[in-house]
Amino acid sequence: MEVKDKIATVTGASSGIGLATARLLAARGAKVALVARSADKLEALSRELPGSFVAPADMTVEEDVRTMAARMLEHYRRVDILVNCAGRGYDAPVEHIDLDTFRDIFQLDVVGPLVAMQAVIPIMRRQGGGTIVNVSSGTSLMNLPNMSPYSSLKRALNALSLAAREELKRDNIVVSVVYPYMTATDFEENTIKDSHIQWEEEDEGDLPPLDPPEHVAQKILEAIETEAPEVYAHDWMKGPR
Ligand SMILES: NC(=O)c1ccc[n+]([C@@H]2O[C@H](COP(=O)([O-])OP(=O)(O)OC[C@H]3O[C@@H](n4cnc5c(N)ncnc54)[C@H](OP(=O)(O)O)[C@@H]3O)[C@@H](O)[C@H]2O)c1
Repeated sequence: MEVKDKIATVTGASSGIGLATARLLAARGAKVALVARSADKLEALSRELPGSFVAPADMTVEEDVRTMAARMLEHYRRVDILVNCAGRGYDAPVEHIDLDTFRDIFQLDVVGPLVAMQAVIPIMRRQGGGTIVNVSSGTSLMNLPNMSPYSSLKRALNALSLAAREELKRDNIVVSVVYPYMTATDFEENTIKDSHIQWEEEDEGDLPPLDPPEHVAQKILEAIETEAPEVYAHDWMKGPR
């Protein structure tokens, strides 16, 4: 889908990848509904982006997500693009996963994007089509010690997205998944880390440098424009398939 003159909703627009994506889509001529909890940050961003709309919501609260979608629709009368970017990490060894924390992160990383999809799908169908991009993680492609809570939740998001893609083809609604690599945002600082974690020594010199959030925003744009099912921050992340 070409972005120019389209209406896009970006969750997680107050920081990092979502913020960079909102800026990029606006620069390409879209009008962007900005979603996150931090209304002050969204207001500040909105002053930069002509035609944008501030729609604060807590993505863990179903009613908030539905109200946000209704307000966005009332304002723009349509929605062409949904980018589900709001998310948070939770690291813990399986033995010590705190179930309440796991449920909270499940609510944000899986249920929130699902409710947002359910809110826009009927609108997109009535309009004759649309594009949904769900932001997953390279971690969902790996089996890393201590990272199963986050990785399993992002895997759930991948499965929902790619099944929805098949289901919605006949309605001209495209669903794609984007896999960021480690990206220089507040994500690491916001990740909940269990105190039992013992990280294995690793040689950081072997790791590629962090990506800037603008790199992932370009990948999200690529997913929208090419309609590819899965877009990776780097080709080497695809692995043998
Ligand atoms: N950075 C990385 O290394 C990396 C790697 C792989 C995947 N990802 C994924 O990329 C996405 C964006 O993360 P980021 O790196 O940009 O992290 P970030 O800088 O921490 O941004 C997270 C965004 O999510 C929003 N958010 C958090 N809780 C929310 C809630 N309950 N309701 C609504 N919005 C909420 C935050 O806004 P408020 O606090 O204002 O609500 C913020 O806008 C996430 O889905 C993450 O899992 C990141």
